[in-house]
Order: sequence, then structure tokens, then C-alpha cells
Amino acid sequence: MAKRKPKKAKAAKTKSAAKRSARKVVKLASAKKSAKKANGNGLHLPKMSAKPYGKDGKALSGVRILDFTHVQSGPTCTQLLAWFGADVIKVERPGIGDITRGQLVDVPGADSLYFTMLNHNKRSITIDSKHPQGKRVLDELIKKCDVLVENFAPGALDRMGLTWDHIHKVNPRMIVASVKGFGPGPYEDCKVYENVAQCTGGAASTTGFLDGPPLVTGAQIGDSGTGLHLALGIVTALYQRTRTGRGQKVLAAMQDGVLNLCRVKLRDQQRLKAGPLTEYSQYSLGIPFGEATPRAGNDSGGGQPGWILKCKGWENDPNAYIYFITQAPVWGPICDLIGEPTWKTDPEYATPKARLPKLKQIFDRIEQWTTTKSKFEVMELCNEVDIPCGPILSMKELAEDQSLRKTGTVVEVDHPTRGKYLTVGNPIKLSDSISEVKRSPLLGEHTDEILKNVLGLRPNVIAEIKSSGALSAPKKEEKAA
Ligand code: COA
Repeated sequence: MAKRKPKKAKAAKTKSAAKRSARKVVKLASAKKSAKKANGNGLHLPKMSAKPYGKDGKALSGVRILDFTHVQSGPTCTQLLAWFGADVIKVERPGIGDITRGQLVDVPGADSLYFTMLNHNKRSITIDSKHPQGKRVLDELIKKCDVLVENFAPGALDRMGLTWDHIHKVNPRMIVASVKGFGPGPYEDCKVYENVAQCTGGAASTTGFLDGPPLVTGAQIGDSGTGLHLALGIVTALYQRTRTGRGQKVLAAMQDGVLNLCRVKLRDQQRLKAGPLTEYSQYSLGIPFGEATPRAGNDSGGGQPGWILKCKGWENDPNAYIYFITQAPVWGPICDLIGEPTWKTDPEYATPKARLPKLKQIFDRIEQWTTTKSKFEVMELCNEVDIPCGPILSMKELAEDQSLRKTGTVVEVDHPTRGKYLTVGNPIKLSDSISEVKRSPLLGEHTDEILKNVLGLRPNVIAEIKSSGALSAPKKEEKAA
């Protein structure tokens, strides 16, 4: 049995506790005082700008990125940084450039949409990174940049001689950010594209219908999703550098990025131990669960059951559908809308628990109603009574959507060789750092400008580097040899 503490000891303890808490108060007060000195929150911020919002530069003004990215994942990341105001210098292989310039070409002789839509607001310089003179130019650029971003196959950067040790020696403040297919482990040496990442990151095994094969999604969660993850890693490392003064490595592995986006499916994997996943329609159909999170068709990922339902015209229009969520708090309005008011009080339907085993039947009944209306009519009627739903919008509808044009999420851009085209602008809106979408660069368009203005090279030096062949494609005879 625990001994009772003598009263005296207890009193002494209370006294010293009071002393401690008094000290705490004093500490807090002095922290407050020094916080004042540091402009309000303890961080040493500059004086507040007096310029109107959106008129005092961009969020990443002054940050220079050496962009060694290609295809989609890396370019998505550096495009975002460019939209936030970083000076992004895209290093491309002379004569070829980013492979996507020539992929899925729709206008002969012009850069593809694949390239133009992923490389806005950047400058392009061509450098043969394996040429001795090219390596020298790269070292000079490393000294002038804050971040090197790359998404080459594993080992490719090292094979160029750009190891972490080398880069760090040339510029200890440099942040080196990479996308790779996998993090350290059995697959770290593998090349990876979008769908490989979707399959190895858990998305494919949990996408599709229960009685069908795994499916990949149209959203580029492996490429663009990982690019987003990397961008966050880079700005975070830049922020830490303001305190430590030194660079660091940033790695975003595509498998990790996809798994992060599939977080709720790993949640469900662990819930399986506790019994069937009752919100999955598989449960209402009486199909037993296996050992792994199953494919859930169009079931909602949260606790509110949802499904995709046909709307008027579905026989001819592949997108005449709506996503309908039977959110519990609006069950009453749902019953009124679909003409089943008795379901509001009928114990067989009145509670979420009672409805779970009948979800298929309930959604069939709601669909009888939605097929009498267009997807936009359903959306309007549901919104009036707060029922969450969303029409299935085609790419054509999104391209024509005037509200997306107004916010700059869909933008028309002019390009010297391909003319006008649509692109997705910056989806992240900052009120004090407004993004303008500028066309992607032509291959090597800014080579001279960068050598002159960023590296400060004189015309005779530039001419010498050019004649060495470090910035141009090898001549045909050299190639053959
Ligand atoms: N000068 C000279 N050589 C250059 C160069 C330049 N400016 N730019 C690139 N190269 C070379 C590289 O050094 C490499 O040569 P090496 O194999 O002799 O070392 C070569 O070009 C090809 O690079 P690599 O990255 O292997 O391209 P790939 O077309 O064979 O593979 C991927 C493409 C995307 C599969 C691969 O880069 C990859 O797995 N990347 C990481 C994951 C990723 O981002 N995937 C998503 C892409 S959207």
C-alpha cells in the first residue's frame, strides 16, 4: 500500500510548486517582451510592407532554381515554384531538351502541349552536362542558385559528376531536391512512371470495382502529386535554411507520395481487424471481406455513404452522372426530394445504422429521381437543401467553365510556334503573391541571357564556351562516330 505523505511535506511541495509557477509567469512575461522586439511572434520579421497586397513582389522572389527536371513529376514542382516567383533555370540537353517537347505532338514543329503545360514561367538553357566545359558552366550556376531540382533515373545525377558532396562543396547552401520512384530499399534503383507509382503506392489495388481488375486513376497522383510533395519539401528546406544557413537533401519518392494520398485506405486496412467495413457497399451486398482493403467502386472514402448516379440523358452522354452523398444530417431533405417522406421516420430507414445494409436499394431509389433531371438540375435542387453532391464534369465542360477562367485556374496562353492553347494555372492562390502564367520557353531560348546576366560572362568567354560544343547538340558526323 502507498504511504500517505506527511502534511508538512505536502505544504512544502505546494510552496515550491507556487514558486515554480511564479517563475513560469515571469518567463512568459519576458518571452512576451522579447517577442515584441521581434515583431509580434518571436520571429525576426522585417518591417511590414506598406505596399498594396499583390504589389510587393512574389512569395519566392530572389530564389533561384537550377531545374534539371524532365517529363512530369519534377516539372510540376518547378512550375509551381516559378509561379510563386522563383527564377527557374531549366537545364536541357542540347538539341533534344526535355523529352516531352516532342511527345504527343499535335502541332508539327511546335513544342507539345505535354511540355508547354508543365513548364510555364521558366527560362531554358542548353548545356551538355557531360562535356567538361558544360560541367564548368554548371558549377558556376550551382554557385548562383539556391536549389537544384532533379528527377533523373537513380544514379544519373551522380554519373554527371553532380554528387551531393560535389554540389555541397561548390555551394554548401544549396538545397538538392529529387523525385525518385522509390525511397531507399529493394526498388531504389528502378525507373518509375506515373502508373507504376499508382500501382506500387496502393492506389490501384483500392481503385476500381470489386469484381474487376485494379485500376489506375486519371489524376496524375504519382507524377503531379509527387511534384507537389517535393515543392513543399523545398520551401520548407528554404525556410530552415534561413535559420541554419545550410542546404540539405530533399527526397520525394513517388511510392511514398501515392501512399500518402491513399492514407484512408491504410486506415481501412487496420479497421478490417475489427470487423467488416460497413460503409463499403460490399457490406450491404453481403459480400465477405478478404485480408486487404478491397476496391470500393464509387463508395465514398469517409463515413458518409455516396455513389455515382445516372442523370437525365445518361443513355447518350457518358458524363450525365452525379456524385450523391446521403449525409446523415440531411436525410430528411433527401427523403422529401426523392418523394419518400415516410423514410424520415420509418425505423428501417430513419437512422444511418438502419440504412447501411440497404444502401444499394436506397441509391437505386435516389437514382430513379436523378434520372428525371439533368446533373445540373440535381445539383441545384440538392444545394438548396445542403445535400452534398457533384456533377461529373467532362474536360470539355471544365475547359469552357467561365468561373475557372475568372480565377485563373484555367488560362489561355499564347505561344510563338503553336498559337493559343489552354492550360491549368496555379491552383494555389496567395493574396499577396499573384501568379501570372507566362508561356514555356523554347529550347535554349535563354542560354545567352543566363550566361551574361546570371553568370556575368563576357561575350568573348560566351563565344569560347559555345565553340567548345558544350551548349550545342553534337554534329551528325560526331554522333555517328
Ligand atoms: N546533358 C547530358 N546528358 C543529359 C542531360 C544533359 N543536359 N540531361 C539528361 N542527360 C542524360 C542523363 O545523364 C542520363 O544519362 P545516363 O543514363 O548515361 O546517366 C540520360 O540523359 C537519361 O536520363 P534518365 O533519367 O535515365 O531518363 P530516361 O528517359 O531513361 O528515364 C524516367 C525517364 C522518368 C523513367 C527516369 O528519369 C526516372 O525514373 N526518374 C525518377 C522518377 C520520376 O520522376 N518519374 C516520373 C517521370 S514523370
